[in-house]
Amino acid sequence: MNNFVSMKTMQTEEILHLIKQTDRFANDGLSKTETDKKRFVTNLFYEPSTRTKLSFEVAEKKLGFEVIDFQVDYSSVLKGESVYDTAKTVASIGAEAVVIRHPLDNTVQELAEQLDIPVINAGDGAGEHPTQCLLDIYTMYKEFGDLKGLNILIVGDIVHSRVARSNAYALRTLGANVSFASKPEWQDQRLDFPYVELDDAIETSDVVMLLRIQSERHDQPKPIEDNNYLEKYGLTIEREKRMKKTAIIMHPAPVNRGVEIDDSLVECKRSRIFKQMEYGVYARMAVLDHLLNKEEPQYGDNYQTVLAHVD
Ligand code: CP
Repeated sequence: MNNFVSMKTMQTEEILHLIKQTDRFANDGLSKTETDKKRFVTNLFYEPSTRTKLSFEVAEKKLGFEVIDFQVDYSSVLKGESVYDTAKTVASIGAEAVVIRHPLDNTVQELAEQLDIPVINAGDGAGEHPTQCLLDIYTMYKEFGDLKGLNILIVGDIVHSRVARSNAYALRTLGANVSFASKPEWQDQRLDFPYVELDDAIETSDVVMLLRIQSERHDQPKPIEDNNYLEKYGLTIEREKRMKKTAIIMHPAPVNRGVEIDDSLVECKRSRIFKQMEYGVYARMAVLDHLLNKEEPQYGDNYQTVLAHVD
């Protein structure tokens, strides 16, 4: 048998041989040695992504997982298959975890309640983006050692930003002072954090975290170049000059260069934008390892101190 195209001409012995082999593999035929034991995860991205998807893939491969390829546009999602049935399918064929990005808030949470394998949120609508938050916080720890009392200014399209939400919650938990600067229609009054004037807060902030304008979530998207956004609400060269000497610039990216931030500042000395991407691999490795390798965390009294000296 060189090909497997039709059952029409297949002999009984051939069929039964394959059934027997199927049963052998079903009963762990390949797992006699550790090297044969492959472990699988999958990344279900229902929204575009470069950083998150690729860094999850690198993280998974560094940890030794095989990544089951899934591309929504070439999947049975186009035949109407639900998120739950898609995830249940990949779990049935061997995935030990599902990494998922979805345009609707709550879809990831609902899936996590339904599946019996770990579900990792890679960004849900305007809900949360917890692994982005983890890499952002790691970036700050690397810079400052401790977050207590740091002034973190999050600037931009707050109401549509899952990055702002996850960061604001976690940074407050860790003792930082979080404030927002935003044009009035992009403020989110459901979030209990102060709104400040960008031009006032720029001088006292330790971290200036810019957000991408989330046009895909706007009811009536306008061209992002319009209305002098950079001059009114973005990080101009003039504002950067007024930042504290030790302050850093962050942005989850993708960046609209010349809109949220002056093009020349994206890779300036203060910018940690590409460092954030590098750290994204390690943060995602930490999450996957924690969920799939069941390491019991050792949270000692000196946990903050340990983090403060990460090199
Ligand atoms: N920061 C971030 O989530 O980027 P991607 O949309 O490219 O994954």
